[in-house]
Amino acid sequence: MAEMINIAVVGFGNIGSYFYKTLEKNKNNISVKTGKIPNIKYICAKNINKKRSIKIPKSKWFKNPLKLPLIDDLDIIVELIGGSEGVAKKLVFSALKNKKHVITANKALMAKYGDQLAELAESNEVNLEYEASVAGGIPIIRSIKENLIANKINKIYGILNGTTNFILSSMESSKKKFSDVLNEAKNLGFAETNPSSDLDGNDSASKLRILSSIAFNKTISKNKILIEGIQNINLTDILHAKKLGFKIKLLSISEIKENKLIERVHPCLIQNNSYLANIDGVLNAIVIDGKPIGKSIFQGEGAGPGPTSSALISDLCSVMRGNIKFPFGISSIFRKKIAKFNILNHSCSSYLRIEVKDLPGVLSSITKIFSKNKISIKNLIQNPDKKNKKASIIIITHTNSEKNYNNLLFNLTKNKFVLKKPTFIRIEKM
Ligand SMILES: NC(=O)c1ccc[n+]([C@@H]2O[C@H](COP(=O)([O-])OP(=O)(O)OC[C@H]3O[C@@H](n4cnc5c(N)ncnc54)[C@H](OP(=O)(O)O)[C@@H]3O)[C@@H](O)[C@H]2O)c1
Repeated sequence: MAEMINIAVVGFGNIGSYFYKTLEKNKNNISVKTGKIPNIKYICAKNINKKRSIKIPKSKWFKNPLKLPLIDDLDIIVELIGGSEGVAKKLVFSALKNKKHVITANKALMAKYGDQLAELAESNEVNLEYEASVAGGIPIIRSIKENLIANKINKIYGILNGTTNFILSSMESSKKKFSDVLNEAKNLGFAETNPSSDLDGNDSASKLRILSSIAFNKTISKNKILIEGIQNINLTDILHAKKLGFKIKLLSISEIKENKLIERVHPCLIQNNSYLANIDGVLNAIVIDGKPIGKSIFQGEGAGPGPTSSALISDLCSVMRGNIKFPFGISSIFRKKIAKFNILNHSCSSYLRIEVKDLPGVLSSITKIFSKNKISIKNLIQNPDKKNKKASIIIITHTNSEKNYNNLLFNLTKNKFVLKKPTFIRIEKM
């Protein structure tokens, strides 16, 4: 008789309930593949009396999740509550301390406490698996830790947030403005009621910190990194970018420069014909640049119950098959801190849209500010709006440093002809 593996699912919302259904449906398949029988013995949610779409035997409901780690005949706790603090944090710490394997989809928790949790898992000889926390259905974490083990990775970048990618690509295809497309995304279930952490880039940044620590074998960076969201991206910019042969994407980029780590999340103009420019809708894509593999691209659905459950079941099978693995691929003893590359020294070319009063002498006043800041102009387009006595100046610059761009933006914003803070978007070479 095959061994029974007892599992507790804590959090029975979007992901928890779908994971339960998928696991029940695939039980035989999983038993054949792992040689063990998965048995969901306990389920927790905040409100046990809530009406749910799936019927659960009463005996499975368990009131206080924080008592689960003390139960002897429980092997694996699947944490699907979310958030970096509160019950999710207490449960995961306590589960590992009590020698329970943990599977989680919680990127906020892993980005903040992943190092401490990994040390705990290692010292208690249990697994801590979190494939579902980054890019949903794309098997990126295990791929880096296991399949790409032979490689020295130098750069990892891509589209890590489906909501913002849906908004940007829909704005381009439908020519609708940001707020309209955001409402559409909410109606379609692609954006949460409060999508702020998607829109402001923080969701992508948590995922990027997790990925770069695995890719570069370092502890998770706690550095203040460059994070800009898409809230200020205007349809005008998307259309101008298109005319100039670019698309605007929210990219997450992590690389080693001069032995230091640089992590950035911000909107980028990328060439229309590049691979990432053609990743539209809710899809995610990640490029890994390493030696000897070269560039390897992973693409797929980044969120939602289906892809996330696929990752959770993959973690579950990995735990059921046995072997205690290092949560970040290598022992915590060998994972060291990495120095931070000074972002002010980062350089790129850029796109600027400057809204100005339509008066004589404006253009020369603006171009003087560029030359004063040693930034040379590659392209300049002027779009007058005679009716409103305004004009838009679109400028593409040659490569320059973040430091000079900061000064440029400061000087431009102060200029008497400039109506509001200019839109500044970095151009990323792919
Ligand atoms: N949604 C996605 O596409 C996606 C993708 C990848 C990763 N994730 C991650 O998966 C996790 C869950 O996300 P979700 O979308 O399923 O969230 P959700 O729909 O809001 O579900 C959260 C669940 O946690 C339960 N819960 C809240 N506080 C609790 C407590 N103190 N004790 C016990 N249960 C509690 C809730 O109970 P009630 O049902 O009673 O309210 C609910 O069942 C998060 O870490 C999220 O970041 C989500």
